[in-house]
Amino acid sequence: LIDIRRIRLASGLVLALFLVTHFGNHALGLISVAAMEAGRTWFVRLWHSWPGTVALYGALAAHFVVALVALYRRPTLRMPLREAAQYIFGLALPLLLVSHVVATRVGHALTGLEARYPEVLYGLWVAAPMIGAKQALALLIAWGHACLGLWFWLRVRPSYRVAAPYLFAFALLVPVLALLGFAQGGEEVAAAGVLRPPLDPAVALQLAQINFALTSGLIGLIVATLAARGLRSWRARSTRVRVSYPQGRIVTVPAGYSVLEASRHGRIPHNSVCGGKGRCSTCRVRITAGLDAVPPPGAAEQHTLARFGAGPDVRLACQLRPTSDLAVTPVLTHAGIRPVLAGGDTGREREIAVLFCDLRGFTRMSESRLPFDTVFLLNRYFQLVGEAVEAEGGHLDKFIGDGALALFGLSEPLEVAAGQAFRAAAAIARGIAELSETLGDELGAPLRIAMSLHAGPAIVGVMGFGESSTLTAIGDTINAASRLEGAAKEFDAELVVSTVVADRAGLDLAGHPRRSIAVRGRAAPIEVWVMERAGGQPAQDGRSTTDVVLPLALPSQRL
Ligand code: FES
Repeated sequence: LIDIRRIRLASGLVLALFLVTHFGNHALGLISVAAMEAGRTWFVRLWHSWPGTVALYGALAAHFVVALVALYRRPTLRMPLREAAQYIFGLALPLLLVSHVVATRVGHALTGLEARYPEVLYGLWVAAPMIGAKQALALLIAWGHACLGLWFWLRVRPSYRVAAPYLFAFALLVPVLALLGFAQGGEEVAAAGVLRPPLDPAVALQLAQINFALTSGLIGLIVATLAARGLRSWRARSTRVRVSYPQGRIVTVPAGYSVLEASRHGRIPHNSVCGGKGRCSTCRVRITAGLDAVPPPGAAEQHTLARFGAGPDVRLACQLRPTSDLAVTPVLTHAGIRPVLAGGDTGREREIAVLFCDLRGFTRMSESRLPFDTVFLLNRYFQLVGEAVEAEGGHLDKFIGDGALALFGLSEPLEVAAGQAFRAAAAIARGIAELSETLGDELGAPLRIAMSLHAGPAIVGVMGFGESSTLTAIGDTINAASRLEGAAKEFDAELVVSTVVADRAGLDLAGHPRRSIAVRGRAAPIEVWVMERAGGQPAQDGRSTTDVVLPLALPSQRL
């Protein structure tokens, strides 16, 4: 099977590089037309060479064909505005550019005359400004299409948040400088009165015929694709599939629709952070009926499902195209099919480290105390947890009863975040020991803590309602970390650290017991290190957790 996504990405990257060099060349017009010409010699060396020509025209053809194939395969044209814009821009571009390509590249092949900046600028700025305006529009559409495609690709990556301001500035500057350079160069040739030698009428006719043939061919391909998909949809309507959702909602769609498209068709809110590209996993659903008849996942879907160890009943709604009735429950929702994220924040997926901690036996302890004592003790505990988390640069997500959830890596790479989370856990363990010592006999028995550390992808965003909206994270990584905290209690240990955290933080925990923990909904168990003591106190066998080789938090590691 040809992976269309890879072809689209590879060809899109080649075309984006072409646009940057081409528009960069235009921007030299801010210096002079001579500078544009000097830049053009390098541009021609790159893109008129054999490898450059094959890469450019191969990418152009592949990108266009892949767009047509994707358009044909879409069971529905109902889609978010940004996806629709991507299609419209992509299909309009070849039509807008064909005359420019014929006049410059094909014209050069037929006449041997190079498309030099002075003559081209004179033609577009002075002789035929409407054609110049059309080319300026094509420039903006081409750049908008490229930026949208790159955004779809990059926005689910952990480093995107850091790079976004720079990318945005670059995305804004490139077309602005290119258009300013084009205008400045146009003014310069207008003042100089540069004239292009008249074209041989026979060559001009030939170019016009080629232009017409290419334009007609492109329009014909688009129309044929739309007609073919219309015909296929019409035939598919005879086979319909019922997709059932929680709360009794049922959507009936033609076979061939994905579950995500069925949700959109039925106006059922459904997360899809990557726009249905199969990369973010936020659309995933648990299949509660009809699992036996669903088609198996393709390679791309398998890859994404494997990233978070999905169970056999979990599938990506954007990739699953059921051929018979089924029932699904979207995983990343709160109550039923209510939207997860509030305030228009669609959230983002990133790799984070998660710390859960819980004060053991606190409920029993508080039963024999005055309420004031209980509040005092809880506040001391909350304070030391909050200080330990914030000292390491973490985000204290919430206190749940006598437990707490903290997130690390909201703006740092996971390697840094995992080390921060481990040091915070050690600080909490030390703080609990000190608090026990300070309160001494008041407590009756020392305070005990159970903590877990895990890391992986999670959806991070502002969630909730109105004033109670907070920055938090959801997903399997959080659920698994919560389960590991339960395991810490079962092992009677202060801390359970998943091997993911240990590996990413570069920790050497080899002296501690290693265990496998089964987690509901995950196919594979989670490997963990069990630390009886997490704060550096001597363990029963005399070993000290301070022996752990822990990288220091260098200021330069914080982004
Ligand atoms: S929408 Fe991102 S994987 Fe389905």
